Amino acid sequence: MLTNENKNLLMKIKDILIQEVPKTTDIIQIYRLLQDNNYSEYKCSVLKEPRWVDDAFIVKISDSNSSDFTLKIHYDKYPMASHVYNSPHLLSKLERCLFSTTIVETFIIPNGHLNNIRFVFYEYIDGIPLDKLVVGASGEMIATYRELLKECVENLFKIGFNPFIRDLGDFILVEESGIQRVILTDYNTLVDCSNSHSHAREEIMDIIEYIIYKTVSSDYRPFISERPTMFQLD
Ligand SMILES: Nc1ncnc2c1ncn2[C@@H]1O[C@H](COP(=O)(O)OP(=O)(O)OP(=O)(O)O)[C@@H](O)[C@H]1O
Ligand SMILES: [Mg+2]
Repeated sequence: MLTNENKNLLMKIKDILIQEVPKTTDIIQIYRLLQDNNYSEYKCSVLKEPRWVDDAFIVKISDSNSSDFTLKIHYDKYPMASHVYNSPHLLSKLERCLFSTTIVETFIIPNGHLNNIRFVFYEYIDGIPLDKLVVGASGEMIATYRELLKECVENLFKIGFNPFIRDLGDFILVEESGIQRVILTDYNTLVDCSNSHSHAREEIMDIIEYIIYKTVSSDYRPFISERPTMFQLD
């Protein structure tokens, strides 16, 4: 549930974006815009830098009156994520699920080149991504991470989503009142499979367990895709 303070902050940022994004021609300009000191009512810190011209970037937005948001910005050219973003029904299913991040608001604003830029506001998840945890972890910890990832995936299947497991950076480990849980953050890994039989979504877990076993290991190699246009910021 959004508090009034949260809503006010979100509206303020949305107003700035509606005004400024049509003047931009690439997403790096939006990244710089959000970090601009002129908007000192909130603090903006980087969670994920764009690694190439059209890569998503993610910032954490905080102010003293409301809880933190995560804002993910990318070109609206990921059909699997867009399918979920455009469905209030699917979004509310994911909102009720404890194993995925909650989207509080999402919209598109065309930039100066009429490219559709997607803005996604999530609740900020205070935890550590699995890719950071598994490398060099003990056998006991690896077994725990596998179990927690399995629990997350099983629950997403239960509500009709097929998550693809490749990049462990898409999953964050959180701890609340001594209970650990893995939460999926990247909606571009989700395929809506709600018309499938529940037995199909249960029986696939044999295969998923094997994928989890192979992927979650102490010699996990980071999942990095590269583009020829890869560039450095600044
Ligand atoms: N809601 C959130 N709360 C806190 N941190 C988040 C949230 N969403 C994403 N992150 C951080 O951003 C990282 C990347 O998230 P995500 O996988 O959604 O983006 P991405 O653009 O697909 O990145 P990549 O291309 O590296 O997979 C996560 O590992 C996590 O550290
Ligand atoms: Mg990802």
